[in-house]
Amino acid sequence: MVRVDVDPASFELPADHPGVSDPGYRARRAAIAEVGRTYRRGAPIPDVVYTPEEDEVWRLVSSELARKHEAYACHAYRVGAEAVTLPADRVPQLREVDARVRELTGFRIEPVPGLVPTRDFYGSLAERVFRSTQYVRHHSVPFYTPEPDIIHEIIGHANMLGNPMFADLYELAGQASQRAETDAALDFFSNVFWFTLEFGVVWEDGELRAYGAGLLSSYGEIEEFRRAEIRPWDLAQMGTLEYDITRYQPVLYAAESFDRMVDDLSAFFSGYDDEDHRRRTR
Ligand SMILES: [Fe+2]
Repeated sequence: MVRVDVDPASFELPADHPGVSDPGYRARRAAIAEVGRTYRRGAPIPDVVYTPEEDEVWRLVSSELARKHEAYACHAYRVGAEAVTLPADRVPQLREVDARVRELTGFRIEPVPGLVPTRDFYGSLAERVFRSTQYVRHHSVPFYTPEPDIIHEIIGHANMLGNPMFADLYELAGQASQRAETDAALDFFSNVFWFTLEFGVVWEDGELRAYGAGLLSSYGEIEEFRRAEIRPWDLAQMGTLEYDITRYQPVLYAAESFDRMVDDLSAFFSGYDDEDHRRRTR
């Protein structure tokens, strides 16, 4: 555990954040952010002592999601989740998730205080490092978070990273981001990442299932995604369609099969650079 004395007023949240007028929550956010802020690669990840309230939010959301994953998650995600075996009754420590995922696929999990600049976040994936927040969403709205909290990062992404197929895709994505030197090329890339590894869906055994971490970690959206406008796989559209992160996604792109998604996405990431971006947007 890391103990720090922080002034809760110094930790800013947007005006519409569920925890904005809760000084206790803001102090927790500031204290937990300190672990990520002071972390240096290669050092052991310090534990955060989660409160009973935070453990309860995890227990509630993770048990509901586990039930829904049976019906809505693609097979490869469920294989990853089974291998990672997250605790059901408490918030896991990044230290233990990191050890488990590293053993399974060589991917590492590292703490960060909050949102990481886009290039840094994706660039780390090229080194097989996933940078994760550690705070828990506000307890007043356990089934919603306006930003990536540890439930999104770990139930969404870390479970995927326990499957070598996804771990390799994430690494290729990281390499693609590093070859996207212009901001326009990086935007196109991160749009594709959004509509695939965050919000991707795939036809599997005649059913539409989710493989995107955003859907797989969202209690509400995981039940709603089949009602979205489902479009066929189209990288040029994914790369340029505008999206709003604050609402359920009205448009999703479905891969015709899981293997096809892995092949097409691997090929896209492997060949992506500024020139490829220009060619795709001409
Ligand atoms: Fe995410």
